[in-house]
Amino acid sequence: MSDNNADKVIIKTPEQLAGMRIAGKCAADVLMMLSEHVRVGVTTDTLDKLAYDYIVNEQKAIPACLNYKGFPRSICTSINHQVCHGIPGSKKLSDGDIVNIDVTVIKNGYFGDTSMMFEIGKPTIRGSRICRIAHECLWIGIDQVKPGATLGDIGYAIEQHAKNNHCSVVQEYCGHGVGLEFHEEPHVMHYGKKGEGLVLAPGMTFTIEPMINLGKKEIKILPDGWTVVTKDRALSAQWEHTLAITETGVEILTLRPNEARP
Ligand code: MF3
Ligand code: CO
Ligand code: CO
Repeated sequence: MSDNNADKVIIKTPEQLAGMRIAGKCAADVLMMLSEHVRVGVTTDTLDKLAYDYIVNEQKAIPACLNYKGFPRSICTSINHQVCHGIPGSKKLSDGDIVNIDVTVIKNGYFGDTSMMFEIGKPTIRGSRICRIAHECLWIGIDQVKPGATLGDIGYAIEQHAKNNHCSVVQEYCGHGVGLEFHEEPHVMHYGKKGEGLVLAPGMTFTIEPMINLGKKEIKILPDGWTVVTKDRALSAQWEHTLAITETGVEILTLRPNEARP
């Protein structure tokens, strides 16, 4: 959102940041747990059930997506040309699919929100390419984050990298403030102009979660009311982290210990 809404951005206290660190780790742990099960033949309903049981019974936490505005599952699973908000179901993952799994956990009232791509079975050239470019876009966005930088710096860097690789950036969905609520101010656009928008300051917490398409940027929502797909049915990929602005840079609250920087 613009500077006009800077006063709505919640600057977290050290105590709140400590709570968000725990919630972020929970969300990251769910992805690592699921990664052992994401393979050819597994249904996304099975992954959803595994996530629900782990969050509720092991983590003593709450899956934020379940019943959020009526969303019927605990995680989002978005396959191939699905951009985001895919609903887990009875369809089995097949060889060459790419799938985004998006997990948001509420622990002691704090939210952690993260997603990543998985390549199923034997990777395809196009699948690997869009997963890699989207991952690079996330990290190039993270690289911009420090006090004094602007949201426009983040969006600009992400958009440039996508364009340089002949990919497009979905405009209708964006990153968001997170922590005490699922979606707080500001809106974090994955396109923009250097130097424009909110100036980042220590204690701000938000996600970066670029949705990058191999084809055109246009999307539509399926009749289920949730699943967002590319209009041209070309592949789409997304990666997401929850971040905190520190005095000197950025802390990634949902970092997985085994995540390789692209
Ligand atoms: N986790 C998503 C995000 O990154 C939001 C999912 S909302 C749901 O903001 F209802 F679809 F689960
Ligand atoms: Co998010
Ligand atoms: Co998310």
